Amino acid sequence: MCGIVGYLGHRQAVPVLLQGLERLEYRGYDSAGIAVIDSSGLKITKSAGRLTELKARLNGHLDGATLGIGHTRWATHGRPTDTNAHPHPDCSGRFAVVHNGIIENYQELRQWLKAEGHTFLSETDTEVLAHLVEHYYRGDLLQAVMAMLPHVKGSYAVAVIGKDHPREIVGVRYDSPLIVGLGREETFLASDIPALLPYTKNTYILDNGEVAYLSPEGPRILDGTGHLKQKQVFHVSWDLEAAEKGGYPHFMLKEIHEQPRALRDTLAGRLDPASGRVKLDGVRLTPEEAKAIRKVALIACGTASYAGMVAKYVWEKLLRLPVEFDVASELRYRQPLMDEGTLGLVISQSGETADTLAGLREARRLGARILAVTNVVGSSVAREADDVLYTWAGPEIAVASTKAYLTQVAAVYLLALYLGTARGEAPWAAELARELSVTPSKVEEVLALEDRFRELAARIAPHEHAFFLGRGLDYAVALEGALKLKEISYLHAEACPAGELKHGPLALIEDGTPVVALVTQEELVEKMLSNIREVKARGAWVLALALEGNRAVAAEADCVLYLPRLHNLLTPLVSVVPLQLLAYYTAAARGCSVDKPRNLAKSVTVE
Ligand code: F6R
Repeated sequence: MCGIVGYLGHRQAVPVLLQGLERLEYRGYDSAGIAVIDSSGLKITKSAGRLTELKARLNGHLDGATLGIGHTRWATHGRPTDTNAHPHPDCSGRFAVVHNGIIENYQELRQWLKAEGHTFLSETDTEVLAHLVEHYYRGDLLQAVMAMLPHVKGSYAVAVIGKDHPREIVGVRYDSPLIVGLGREETFLASDIPALLPYTKNTYILDNGEVAYLSPEGPRILDGTGHLKQKQVFHVSWDLEAAEKGGYPHFMLKEIHEQPRALRDTLAGRLDPASGRVKLDGVRLTPEEAKAIRKVALIACGTASYAGMVAKYVWEKLLRLPVEFDVASELRYRQPLMDEGTLGLVISQSGETADTLAGLREARRLGARILAVTNVVGSSVAREADDVLYTWAGPEIAVASTKAYLTQVAAVYLLALYLGTARGEAPWAAELARELSVTPSKVEEVLALEDRFRELAARIAPHEHAFFLGRGLDYAVALEGALKLKEISYLHAEACPAGELKHGPLALIEDGTPVVALVTQEELVEKMLSNIREVKARGAWVLALALEGNRAVAAEADCVLYLPRLHNLLTPLVSVVPLQLLAYYTAAARGCSVDKPRNLAKSVTVE
């Protein structure tokens, strides 16, 4: 996820671009840059780090320009460095491109362009676009961009300018947002509405495949074949704060809704559903190295560790490899048994969590190979690991992790496919890959039930205790559900392996105590039904989450929410979503500070 802006009009472009980027920093903030055209040509200024670094570098330069494009980056391909920051130029320095999204076939394009004589400066996927424009340019900027599009696979919102076209900007959109802002004798481009709000509330929201051609005559919107389209003006009625959250009242809810996109991006270009093979750029274990792994040790904290617990169930079952589950703060002090045959599986959204980093270093000292799953390119975890698989969730602003967790779990499945194939033991791969590829739409189906969760949360909100029961993979998800509820609603929530109830926790069940029972694991349904009966007999109010078609559970629970059917090992990708929504609406009903819960911080960089 990144933010892009563009401006063409009568104002000084630089302050407009910088203000727009400031409002898009929630989409990424590891580097930033702008390109403008003034009387002396096309100028690019960019810098790693926050926008303040770029401002310091600009320091009043380029003030004469009235046209430009800008970018704030959330690195996906290539570390957050000055060179990898956007805008990217072509070889001749005549064009500059900013991009939000992922170009899936960039490696093929890069090879082809190199063979054509193009020289690449950065490690990004985006740079191919600048060279493609150069390749197809015959004196018409719009035509060059249109000619490039059929060759590009993936998601993109792109803005392009050219030195010899000082009053033109071309924007295109496919699966990444792009909005045109309509001013008086001025036009804006932006990834999101907040960047436009100081100047205009009238916009065109581009649809997939549409091209925006900005010139002093005003914007023209074209389809992919160059035909003019009639667009409806969308008038923004929100205030700035609401707009930054995409109209959602909290970042957490916005991030919950971003999950289908985050999941798609994390799987995109990596998964071949037909063969079950995966291509994971930063993971370089050879088949020999994969076969030499004797055990896996998880190194993670909190929500990330619960994503790791999914690896314990799934990898042990599919790969027949032992996975030791521990939170990093315990692991680092218990003299763990690791050696060269150990794979340290580090999972961290931020890549900066102090205990996780210390666990990683301890595992390395003992000889383990480190495989990291992280959301932040260039983070400490990414730099110190041997192999890295990035989750492409985009920046997560709410303290309570949602989309990062979901993409970490997706990474667990991608790695199962990778390791299974490398170890030569994956007869299950094609089926798992096929089913994994359709999980984003299953998440969408669950999100469509949102109103139900609001009603159910009202049932939970007045209580001080809640229990989450599950067996097997459902227990791993129950842990995450309980953590979500306690951290944002301040309600005491406990996850319990359902079979353990009668060994203690059952004593806490009273009349009306809310119990959420996860019943997605086919071979454990009967056992779960008995556990539901146990808590019901003590007065609990039971909400069950079950897969479509499981009628038996309806006879036992007070309320059942049905989830779309899917492969039994993939259920965490879908069953966690109702728990996130329940936590969210319970916290909202209790009037809690959802995005910034008391006593907590987004990134825990102290022990
Ligand atoms: C809870 C949550 C935390 C983090 C934990 C690790 O919603 O977000 O439990 O999962 O602090 O953080 P990262 O993943 O950044 O290492």
